[in-house]
Amino acid sequence: MDNDARQSYRDLVAASIADPETFWGEAAGLIDWITPPRQVLDDSNPPFYRWFAGGRLNVCFNALDRHVVHGRADQTALIYDSPVTGTQRRYTYAQLLDVVARFAGVLRDLGVGKGDRVVVYMPMVPEAVVAMLACARIGAVHSVVFGGFAPAELAARIEDAEPTVVVSASCGIEPSRTVPYKPMLDEAIERSAHKPDHCVILQREQLTCEMGERDLDWDQLMHPDAVAPAACVPVEATDPLYVLYTSGTTGKPKGIVRDSGGYAVALRWSMTNLYGVQPGETWLCGSDVGWVVGHSYIVYAPLLTGATTVLFEGKPVGTPDAGTYWRLVDEHDVVAVFTAPTAIRAIKKQDPDATLLAGHDLSSLRTLFLAGERLDPDTWRWATDHLGVPVVDNWWQTETGWPIATNPVGIAPFEIKPGSPTLPTAGYDVRVLDETGREVGPGTEGAICLKLPMPPGTLPTLWRDDDRYVSSYLSAFEGYYLSGDGGYVDEDGYVFVMGRTDDVLNVAGHRLSTGSLEEALAGHPAVAECAVIGVSDPLKGQVPRALVVLKAGIDPDEQGREQLAAELVQRVRSEVGAVAALRQVDIVEALPKTRSGKILRKTMRQIADGQEALVPSTIEDVSVLDDLGPVLRGS
Ligand code: COA
Ligand code: AMP
Repeated sequence: MDNDARQSYRDLVAASIADPETFWGEAAGLIDWITPPRQVLDDSNPPFYRWFAGGRLNVCFNALDRHVVHGRADQTALIYDSPVTGTQRRYTYAQLLDVVARFAGVLRDLGVGKGDRVVVYMPMVPEAVVAMLACARIGAVHSVVFGGFAPAELAARIEDAEPTVVVSASCGIEPSRTVPYKPMLDEAIERSAHKPDHCVILQREQLTCEMGERDLDWDQLMHPDAVAPAACVPVEATDPLYVLYTSGTTGKPKGIVRDSGGYAVALRWSMTNLYGVQPGETWLCGSDVGWVVGHSYIVYAPLLTGATTVLFEGKPVGTPDAGTYWRLVDEHDVVAVFTAPTAIRAIKKQDPDATLLAGHDLSSLRTLFLAGERLDPDTWRWATDHLGVPVVDNWWQTETGWPIATNPVGIAPFEIKPGSPTLPTAGYDVRVLDETGREVGPGTEGAICLKLPMPPGTLPTLWRDDDRYVSSYLSAFEGYYLSGDGGYVDEDGYVFVMGRTDDVLNVAGHRLSTGSLEEALAGHPAVAECAVIGVSDPLKGQVPRALVVLKAGIDPDEQGREQLAAELVQRVRSEVGAVAALRQVDIVEALPKTRSGKILRKTMRQIADGQEALVPSTIEDVSVLDDLGPVLRGS
């Protein structure tokens, strides 16, 4: 390997931090601007930083029109591969531009203007991508809600984003069942204080739905006689492109704001430099458009780059088998796959010797990227041994929008240390701090923080809530963004991310809040109080477990307890969504707390995981914890 190239990457990252204006000013040249930025970094109002102030652009133009203009009109932009419906469809850049411009016209005709919000609640169909880009085209702000979320979660997002229009579909298709989306959407709107003016519904033949008063049919609206295409609307670099809600520790989701200019620059830069994907190449990101990974690396980064993106409606296993990804690589000449470690663990479980690789030509594949949760060394080893390509861990969050740390294979591949997403990337000044805010030395664990300002593409604030932005992320240590992850940096500068330091759950790479699960449980009339903890799981990384205390006077027998537990599991499915994967509810006498009433979730989690439990000296009654021990350990 090339040590000079590695040193120049380290130098490049150092330069991006020492002189962000020069570094990102140059990177801004990767994007077509209507008006070039007046200033690269506006740091006049800390802790609020803005990138590319004065610049005007259109992100949809950069993702579609400019490729059509510059010779990629007939290149495939998007391949929709859907084993669950037996469908495959390809869109060239010219075709994708045509449908996006028409759907942008539909939205415009429905009264959606610049800055208005559009909620997109859809399965993995091309129309979801079309809706997102159409919003970008007219300067509207999309807010995509993951299809696996149930009405309460959707309602919370509709209420906060206050969309003019919701775009949805009649159903989603899971391997085991067809999921009717429309009744969930109707219920969410019913629950929300804010009502959209219209819902545009894509009727899918697998399960059509009844249309109500505010509902409009996608196909009818999109008929070429019914709509005139919309042109690109210039927006400020600092205008929001989207709001994506993510889970914090409370039940109220956080609306992560993504600006337009900074995001476009950072993603375009990351695609070739970090992921090593060039214009014209095909790439598969097996996430969902409802998550940040889907926003950034199914939709925006590949299209901004002029690459071909594979939109996969299926699962790594069961659609039809654990060889699906290998088929996709072979059939579409995919150069890199991006998925979650859970997906690889699921494949490994079903096909431990990777026999399903046989018969597939994987010669196009250069790299497997994994993110969304900690990549355990066993999974890394299995994938490396069987695929024979570098398996690259990358660490980031909804808040940052693109990797904080990765192995920059596009510039200089570094030696891989299993368990580490390698080095901080450009613009991220990663520091590990102890509880007093002092930086710790190499190898010592602490809170992983990012020294402000963070690079372009990262969140400038929370949707209409600057105070919560500051209190959630910036108030723990002045001048630093608190990532919420704990870990350390070793003597070579490699970052090791060990897990969340707060109560955020990560189930199969899906980020969920203990608060929303607890709210769903607490809504049951028999529940006095409850706690949800995330315990280790060999497949999903983490799964939730619930501990519930019943109201005084409610004392069911064994059968009654089982029924109650089943009702509580069902409540979480119907309020939060099946994706929460809550299976185990234990009815207990009391929950361990500190004297100030804080439930000791971390201590319970450590006991359940068989780790040494750290019992705070402020515990109110240690016997509660002693009594819970056997339940938590499952003994
Ligand atoms: N719409 C509706 N329901 C959904 C859904 C969606 N978009 N996504 C998941 N669900 C449902 C599933 O049907 C399942 O329901 P069930 O309990 O009735 O079976 C439940 O939510 C849990 O789903 P999932 O997390 O997909 O677990 P699984 O056991 O069905 O599959 C894996 C396990 C590993 C195959 C799957 O979790 C996976 O593909 N993980 C990769 C994760 C990923 O890409 N994360 C993105 C972050 S990068
Ligand atoms: P999300 O915002 O849904 O992308 O989830 C972000 C969280 O997932 C992070 O704060 C981490 O806890 C976890 N995560 C994501 N990628 C990694 C990784 N490569 N290694 C360890 N944890 C990760």
